[in-house]
Amino acid sequence: MAANKISDRIYSVGVQNPDLRVFDIVMATKYGTSYNSYIVKGEEVALIEASHADFEGVYEENIRQVVDPAKIKYVILNHTEPDHSGALKDILRLCPEATVLASAVALNYLKNIVNEPFNSRPVKDGEVLDLGGVTLNFTTAPLLHWPDSIFTYCPEEKTLFSCDVFGSHYSSDKTFDKDIADVDGYKEAFKGYYDAIFGPFKPFVVAGMAKIAKYPFETVCPSHGPVLTKEGLLPYVLDSYRAWSKPVRNAVKTVPVFYCSAYGCTAKLAAAIVDGVKEVIPDANCEAYDLIKNDMAVMREKLNSSDAFAVGSPTLNADAVPPVWDLLAGIDAINIRKRPVAVFGSFGWSGEAVPNLVSRLTSLKTAVVGEGFKVCFVPTDADLEAAKEYGKQLAASIK
Ligand SMILES: Cc1cc2nc3c(=O)[nH]c(=O)nc-3n(C[C@H](O)[C@H](O)[C@H](O)COP(=O)(O)O)c2cc1C
Ligand SMILES: [Fe+2]
Ligand SMILES: [Fe+2]
Repeated sequence: MAANKISDRIYSVGVQNPDLRVFDIVMATKYGTSYNSYIVKGEEVALIEASHADFEGVYEENIRQVVDPAKIKYVILNHTEPDHSGALKDILRLCPEATVLASAVALNYLKNIVNEPFNSRPVKDGEVLDLGGVTLNFTTAPLLHWPDSIFTYCPEEKTLFSCDVFGSHYSSDKTFDKDIADVDGYKEAFKGYYDAIFGPFKPFVVAGMAKIAKYPFETVCPSHGPVLTKEGLLPYVLDSYRAWSKPVRNAVKTVPVFYCSAYGCTAKLAAAIVDGVKEVIPDANCEAYDLIKNDMAVMREKLNSSDAFAVGSPTLNADAVPPVWDLLAGIDAINIRKRPVAVFGSFGWSGEAVPNLVSRLTSLKTAVVGEGFKVCFVPTDADLEAAKEYGKQLAASIK
């Protein structure tokens, strides 16, 4: 691993982690990842991003290949997640006079990440930093993907430092996109990264892309994965982000009914709820899905793109069952607010599943219909009729 020249004034000094197979607990990283960091050299020197703490040694060596770290005047953090800020404390020991530039929110977070004093200055949207012969423009990018995020743009090199945006968990010994041999593998990693990190923030992606449209960038230096170029994959990357972030309106009302059922009791309630929804909205796209028999990623996607949904669980060991919680763990919390939700399930004696699910969905600010619907053991015809009524209420609450 070594430092690599990106242009006359920009160098890549980050580190590769090809063996990583899970990132942030929940993301599979089949192709590993990289913790990118860049040096911009004018008369003064700026370091952009500060890599992962586990790789501080090799990171420092890479920096030394380009510049004596004591000469770093500014450390710019586009975002403070520890994959970008983990090595900051160690790097600042090498350049104690350096000033950390980041959004005000980021500097606030850094207090509790670095846990010792350092020089810092918040940067505002539109602010320009002159390094002498080369400048950097800062653009706030809220919720891409934390409240702290900013973009940094270098007009002299037409280069955008986009942080996690346009990133990918794709480790490679090639610095540039155009040198990657396995383009399909890269595209798979790029889509997986978008879905996991930016899927919940689509409106913010649209807003962020509108803000950087004024910059005629030809190179993007993201914080993970290869450097993107206009001759290489940059057009693909930009087109993909635009397409994936476009708001989708369902052609017909889409109301998936998710459930688990050990002995078929909750399954019967699910079928009755589907009947109720269809009685109110005959052309609704409304189907019941057994979570044990369906792919969880597909189920999560159906939930997040629904107009309303229902979720059912029997009570096992005083709670809803794990696949149902797993489904809810994939909820896009920002966009789910006010979404009508029906909660149902069969139980034997204590019946905690429905109230526990109602409590979680209420804390996510969804619009739970009534107090949920539960039935003791095997539903009677009257119970199924009531479940159908509950499905009708769900359909009626869709705006
Ligand atoms: C392993 C196991 C644990 C259970 N634990 C509870 C419980 O803690 N509280 C309760 O009310 N019912 C409990 N039950 C009873 C089920 O909720 C009840 O049989 C229900 O009708 C099953 O619905 P289903 O056919 O949709 O799975 C349990 C059942 C099983 C199989
Ligand atoms: Fe991040
Ligand atoms: Fe990151």
